[in-house]
Amino acid sequence: MPDRIPTFRYSRITGTGSMLPPRRVSNADLAAQLAERGLETSDEWIVERTGIRARRFADPSVCSSDLGVEAARHALQAAGRSAEDVDLIIVATSTPDMVFPSTATIVQRKLGVQGCPAFDLQAVCSGFVYGLSVADAMIRSGAASCALVIGAEVFSRILDFNDRTTCVLFGDGAGAVVLEASAEPGILATRLHADGQHMDILCTPGTVSGGQILGDPLLKMDGQAVFKLAVRVLDEVAREVLEAAGRTAADIDWLIPHQANIRIMQGTARKLKVPLDHVVVTVDEHGNTSAASIPLALDHAVRSGQIQRGHTLMLEGVGGGFTWGAVLLDF
Ligand code: UT7
Repeated sequence: MPDRIPTFRYSRITGTGSMLPPRRVSNADLAAQLAERGLETSDEWIVERTGIRARRFADPSVCSSDLGVEAARHALQAAGRSAEDVDLIIVATSTPDMVFPSTATIVQRKLGVQGCPAFDLQAVCSGFVYGLSVADAMIRSGAASCALVIGAEVFSRILDFNDRTTCVLFGDGAGAVVLEASAEPGILATRLHADGQHMDILCTPGTVSGGQILGDPLLKMDGQAVFKLAVRVLDEVAREVLEAAGRTAADIDWLIPHQANIRIMQGTARKLKVPLDHVVVTVDEHGNTSAASIPLALDHAVRSGQIQRGHTLMLEGVGGGFTWGAVLLDF
């Protein structure tokens, strides 16, 4: 008798979706707005240092759950599923609608379903990779069979438009996948990490207390410190996840890194020897949408026909906390 009974239960992405707010703000538009505040920036600087040309900003009445639920509906449609089929909802977000309840329960309500577990996951720009790992583990354990994993953000709400070093980098949007139980993988391996010693290099330190906002509720970043750490940990975690899956970098059809800076993405690809034309790039049009960036990029690459069924994908997140992680999967 084997001491462990093999279950042969894996998880597989069966549909992807995304939602971007319609208001596109180009670098030139943003530069003009900052000039009114006496701050100097330019399209040339932003493109050269980051690869960003534009970002989307949601109107004030639009919340993360509004973007997330639309992304979820598109993912369900692509998977041939309805909201009633969903038995787990995870929303990765650092810009929740409220302190509580979770954005996931608000998405659940907007989808018109009840009963299944729904919770938010807070790992900033690594949130989607964290969420996918948790959903994979819950599906493999038998705790869920059809999960919605959503990354949804309205980062424009926490930007300091008096700080040109950060406000030009981020945007709003949402992406989602339907992850289902499958006899075949699917997700091949996941690896997650965090190191709270670096919590100060990327944070939004404010909080709510006694009816007041305490501390600064706007995003702060030491860009160079984040840049250096990101390049190192993205390379390390990519190798870890490949080794765990018994694959090599040559097996990767598409690298989908967190969309923060084209220079970090290209550096990661070069170290892994993944050709640059096999890196999914949406940072140029979306900016950094934090937890939404990877599922947004995934959905765009699927819908544009770049990513096909059977392709091997490496998803890599890195961000505040400091957190990082990777998921290797056969699509
Ligand atoms: O989502 C989580 C992950 N986040 C990231 O991965 C972000 C990682 N960091 C970065 O992407 C880059 O560090 C930045 C894009 C944030 C900054 O690029 P950099 O090449 O590290 O620039 P820098 O901070 O060294 O600044 C260079 C110069 C400075 O001027 P001086 O001191 O050389 O005179 C800045 O003041 O560029 C100046 N600068 C700007 N100039 C025009 C900074 N921001 C701007 C701006 N427009 N928006």
